[in-house]
Amino acid sequence: MEPRQEQLVSLIRRFGDAQIVGAEVGVLHGETSAVLLREFPELTLYMIDPWQPYPQQTADTISRWGAAQHEAAFQKSIKATKFAASRRIILRPVGCSASAPGGLDFAFIDAQHDYDSVSSDFRFSWPQISGGGFIAGHDYDNPGPSTLEVKAAIDDFGAEVNRPVHSGDGYVAWIDKPSRKD
Ligand SMILES: C[S@@+](CC[C@H](N)C(=O)[O-])C[C@H]1O[C@@H](n2cnc3c(N)ncnc32)[C@H](O)[C@@H]1O
Repeated sequence: MEPRQEQLVSLIRRFGDAQIVGAEVGVLHGETSAVLLREFPELTLYMIDPWQPYPQQTADTISRWGAAQHEAAFQKSIKATKFAASRRIILRPVGCSASAPGGLDFAFIDAQHDYDSVSSDFRFSWPQISGGGFIAGHDYDNPGPSTLEVKAAIDDFGAEVNRPVHSGDGYVAWIDKPSRKD
């Protein structure tokens, strides 16, 4: 397991054996989706990714991918999570973010890494998170050239919703949604 996946697994353990619904925003080859679906047999997971060329190039190598490379990644993600076909819900939004209808126990944001994209993915998903759940983002404080803006975007979002940002292993940061009794 990669450090980001270990960190997510440890965050999701808070739900115990309950039936839970989560979302991964930015799925690529489905490696993290597969880990989560395998670790948590009671998890239903929204796998959200357009698997389409980006509207503009960024420092992120994936932004230079053509349609065929994205389609190959999509096919790989389908194969990687086939064992949990009844518990995965694949959404391929075009030109916008997508989120699950109804409540999510958690969302893992790992799509485009520029400031505006991270901010809007957090803003869009946060209202979908139920009390006691969390929203997490990848590449927080990762010094790589394509991820430099992630920390500021997540810190600013934390300030916006008046919640502390926690950071853990594998460049994962998260914000807990208070439960009603908090
Ligand atoms: C860094 S990769 C994801 C890696 C994956 N989370 C993992 O842990 O293996 C980024 C992915 O985000 C996707 N993406 C780009 N824009 C998106 C958007 N607006 N919503 C969801 N996913 C997006 C890309 O197609 C790409 O597959």
